[in-house]
Amino acid sequence: MRLRRSDFPDGFQFGAATSAYQIEGHGFGGAGSTHWDSFATGPGNVMRGENGAVACDHYNRWESDLDLMEAAGLDAYRFSTSWARVLPEGRGAVNAEGLDFYDRLVDGLLARGIAPYATLYHWEMPSALADLGGWMNGDVAGWFADYTEIIMGRIGDRVEATATINELWCVAWLSHFLGHHAPGMRDIRAAARAMHHVLLAHGHAVQAARALGFDNLGLVTNLEYTEPADESVEAAEAASVQDALYNQWFLGAVFKQEYPTVALAGLERHLPKGWQDDFGVIGTPVDWVGINYYTRKLVKPGPSGMFCDIVDLPGNLPKTAMDWEIYPEGLSYFLERVQREYTGDTPLFITENGMASLDRMGADGRIEDWARSAFLDAHFAAALRAIEAGVPLKGYFVWSLLDNFEWAFGYDKRFGMIHVDFKTQVRTPKQSWLDFTEALKR
Ligand code: FCB
Repeated sequence: MRLRRSDFPDGFQFGAATSAYQIEGHGFGGAGSTHWDSFATGPGNVMRGENGAVACDHYNRWESDLDLMEAAGLDAYRFSTSWARVLPEGRGAVNAEGLDFYDRLVDGLLARGIAPYATLYHWEMPSALADLGGWMNGDVAGWFADYTEIIMGRIGDRVEATATINELWCVAWLSHFLGHHAPGMRDIRAAARAMHHVLLAHGHAVQAARALGFDNLGLVTNLEYTEPADESVEAAEAASVQDALYNQWFLGAVFKQEYPTVALAGLERHLPKGWQDDFGVIGTPVDWVGINYYTRKLVKPGPSGMFCDIVDLPGNLPKTAMDWEIYPEGLSYFLERVQREYTGDTPLFITENGMASLDRMGADGRIEDWARSAFLDAHFAAALRAIEAGVPLKGYFVWSLLDNFEWAFGYDKRFGMIHVDFKTQVRTPKQSWLDFTEALKR
């Protein structure tokens, strides 16, 4: 790995990212049921019907997991708090044990000199609220703001920064139009409502946290480099709709108080009444923006010719175990584009970047994931190029610290820099972890 910490500006934060449902073990500690628990029981939804009940058993092993980060010299750790762990019914009675867990986790990070970066929602909607429509119900904004007050009231005084919601596109579109994630809806009206309510919830949560006196509040958006699959006008149109829904909708709402016209053409009639009046809340100023970046997609219209029937085709770049093309140029492209079109001087973070690979353990017990080291190195270089071009990038979190529950792919796809044997819960640092943490010493 060519990365040297000294190439990056002073104070640049290098860390690793995880999320609650993917690592904690949702079956422990009195957490309430979530829509992922029920989604996983549907045939074909999650590989082998796996769920997050045990995951990495981080709920019980968090101290030794934090020790690994401390020993490696990480500056920061991005984790998420689970709504259903803190409020098993989504509202009402607090699970004291759940709140205590995050309290200890934050103190444990600080005691080890690691800055805590919290995300309040990384996809586990409490089932009791999913029963009421979840993101499709406009009341979700108030429910989420109430939960935000509770969790921030407990840990807000000690976290370095807080993001409201992880990857709003996945929460809304992937889960309500494409149906790949819980709650598995395939309905444009449901999706349009979720696209709006997730932003409204974000805005109310920022206001709730600010009212308690906290700052360093942001959101985490995922961006995907989109190109037409061929030279046709139709493919160019598909790419423009895809870019609007994916890369412009959320940042445009927060920073310009508007939705992109090409997306509105299909979604406007399904949006909740009075949506135009919500931009005052949605556009509540944030202190930073997190970008999750993984890949590029080549797109063209699907067979139906209907709005946003968009299919992607395999490109010819090298691919990860997710079959995602490796395209580091997309990272510098987005950092510069986001600054230019939306965020200006507002600090940016790369809150996720990484890859899945097959990661077999050799007879000597080593896991030689050189491909991951090379992937990360190429993306660090892309980040550095953006910094040199004037982007106020302040930190970089690798996805992920540990192999974990990769949503619809169950435990099949391994994103960790640290290998987890899911039978024994033994952690084994991979070569990429050794390379990354060595580079941080240079
Ligand atoms: C992102 C998610 C994260 C993980 C990675 C691979 O979309 O935020 O939980 O699944 O992809």
